[in-house]
Amino acid sequence: MISGLERVPTPAILRNLLLGLLLSSPRLSHVGFKLLDKMAYSKSTLLNPDANPVLRAVVKPLFYDQFCAGTNQKEVFRTRDTIRRLGYAGVILCYGKEIQISRSKKLQSTGSECTDQALEVEQWKEGNLRTLDMVGEGDWIGLKLTGAGPGVANALMNNQDPPAEFVAAMDAICQKARSQKCRLWVDAEQQMFQTTIDRWTIDFMRKYNTNGKILVYSTIQAYLKSSRDKIKYQLSLAAAENWTLAIKLVRGAYIANDQREKIHDTKAHTDESYNSIVADVLTGRNLGFLGSNGQSFPKIALFLAGHNPESVSKAWDLIQELSAKKELKVLPDFGQLQGMADVLGCRLLQKCDDLKASSESSTRLDDASKEEVVAVPEVFKCLTWGSMQECMQYLLRRLIENQSGADRMRDGLTAYRQELWRRWFGKSV
Ligand SMILES: Cc1cc2nc3c(=O)[nH]c(=O)nc-3n(C[C@H](O)[C@H](O)[C@H](O)COP(=O)(O)OP(=O)(O)OC[C@H]3O[C@@H](n4cnc5c(N)ncnc54)[C@H](O)[C@@H]3O)c2cc1C
Ligand SMILES: *[C@@H]1O[C@H](CO)[C@@H](O)[C@H](O)[C@H]1NC(C)=O
Ligand SMILES: *[C@@H]1O[C@H](CO)[C@@H](O)[C@H](O)[C@H]1NC(C)=O
Repeated sequence: MISGLERVPTPAILRNLLLGLLLSSPRLSHVGFKLLDKMAYSKSTLLNPDANPVLRAVVKPLFYDQFCAGTNQKEVFRTRDTIRRLGYAGVILCYGKEIQISRSKKLQSTGSECTDQALEVEQWKEGNLRTLDMVGEGDWIGLKLTGAGPGVANALMNNQDPPAEFVAAMDAICQKARSQKCRLWVDAEQQMFQTTIDRWTIDFMRKYNTNGKILVYSTIQAYLKSSRDKIKYQLSLAAAENWTLAIKLVRGAYIANDQREKIHDTKAHTDESYNSIVADVLTGRNLGFLGSNGQSFPKIALFLAGHNPESVSKAWDLIQELSAKKELKVLPDFGQLQGMADVLGCRLLQKCDDLKASSESSTRLDDASKEEVVAVPEVFKCLTWGSMQECMQYLLRRLIENQSGADRMRDGLTAYRQELWRRWFGKSV
């Protein structure tokens, strides 16, 4: 049976196995975690991985290269090409710099920092325009609004309107993305920022997702108890104002440092929330859309971000079922993060290839069925680039997440081991 892992180069499999072994030891991963946390905010050269060559020699090949795309254009191009060669439809490239609120309510920024708001926004804009220079037609970029600096982060926290220089920066980014035939999404962050991030993002969807075009996606975190209300509200706006609602659906990554009571009580509730939102968007039902004043259901686009195999396979089956009945409301895209869940991603790519192949052979056999279009989704990989220090927060979240998926990791490691066996000894085990 073809697992899809045939596509992955051997060195990548070996690193996955080595990292997997390290991370499955709670003691080792605790030490690693403490160290990375220090490195994210350290002003001392000794603990700054960009400045300390010894630290860099360890962190770069083992952690950074597994989860991040590169520190400069050359490295990013290399990573992007590798991903495309695996069969992914394209990449989503994100600039790693961001700001987080620590438990002591202090703003913490990764990488260098200054206090001049206009300058911060300018740097953020330049970072994202440079990101756009590194992607091609059909690719995406991902934006983190807090990356625009403490001034913007404060505006987000206090539910203010976006500063004028921020709107101008966003417009420049959107227009460049549109001219390159790229899409972009706005990441969801901690709840302290998120209400305002939603509001500002809606403004950009309203502006750029018109005439059936889709440029800007907002992110819905299914772990929030309010996720359904958010979708309902955004649907009603899109219908009333005649633009396309584009949603990236995730579970949510900030459970460790966010207001816990606003997040579903258990993992099972979050899973149920995610899966039921997928089902309802694919069918266009139960979303609370009333269609008053004769409004019709708005145009909608969906990106399913996640590493959960049950969610992916449920979504996949429902897509096929609905598409056979011609009742599929929207064909979603799928995406995983670089360095995570390659086993899942490759399996998905393989299923897409199989589906395409079988539909081609069936149309050749039987002309009458030519009408029947199979729904083949596209699969993307999401990459983060930036200096090592800028990417540290991102790396830390990946480590936390990796810990929570211990069972899945064991499955993944088995799959990698079997693939190595097949390569070296030419047979399956
Ligand atoms: C392409 C891509 C883009 C992403 N963009 C964002 C983004 O913009 N913003 C963002 O916040 N995250 C983002 N994420 C991360 C995402 O939110 C998840 O953290 C990550 O994908 C792991 O969840 P999962 O769906 O893969 O499934 P799983 O690994 O099965 O689920 C883990 C998730 O379940 C939830 N969970 C775990 N324990 C509990 C509990 N006790 N109670 C309630 N819920 C629990 C948490 O959300 C946790 O992250 C992105 C992920 C991907 C793949
Ligand atoms: C909505 O926008 C579409 C273009 O995407 C246009 O054809 C249509 O007439 C608009 N509908 C209304 C009610 O304005
Ligand atoms: C954790 O990291 C390993 C090694 O990089 C990777 O193979 C695995 O997919 C990750 N775990 C999860 C849950 O994604």
